[in-house]
Amino acid sequence: MTRAVLFVCLGNICRSPLAEGIFRALVAEAGRLPDFRIDSAGTGPWHIGNPPDPRSIAIAAKHGIDISDQKARQVDKTDFENFDVIVAMDDKNLTTLSALDPGSSAGLRLLLNSPPANVPDPYFGGPEGFEEVYQLIRAGCENLLKPML
Ligand code: 4NP
Repeated sequence: MTRAVLFVCLGNICRSPLAEGIFRALVAEAGRLPDFRIDSAGTGPWHIGNPPDPRSIAIAAKHGIDISDQKARQVDKTDFENFDVIVAMDDKNLTTLSALDPGSSAGLRLLLNSPPANVPDPYFGGPEGFEEVYQLIRAGCENLLKPML
């Protein structure tokens, strides 16, 4: 059975593209790509159609992951039917998702379940914020995937 996992942040250019790329790389390492559908989206509309932020592309590349062909999109109601698990990067985005959810059985959750439970928004900070975000997302993705294998 295919597991469909959607990662969600605000703009879909910094955090959730990294989560999509890291989670896909971990699934590939486990040899389970055919069993998963993996995507990301933003709760906001500002960056629809844009590639990930160059700082996210660079930090992913530094760790051997290519996310440069992703394109930002906004969450819509059909996502709640089409994904088994919807994973928010922070509690603000989780609240927005809960309000949009028409009452689906999709499991809404945060990526991180131990402090700091929010992946900080790195958009307005410097490039050093992206290494911290990468490490938080990597740890979160490892914990998320383990029980799914
Ligand atoms: P993201 O970061 O939610 O991790 O993609 C942001 C990207 C853009 C904006 C905010 C956060 N923005 O305000 O445009």
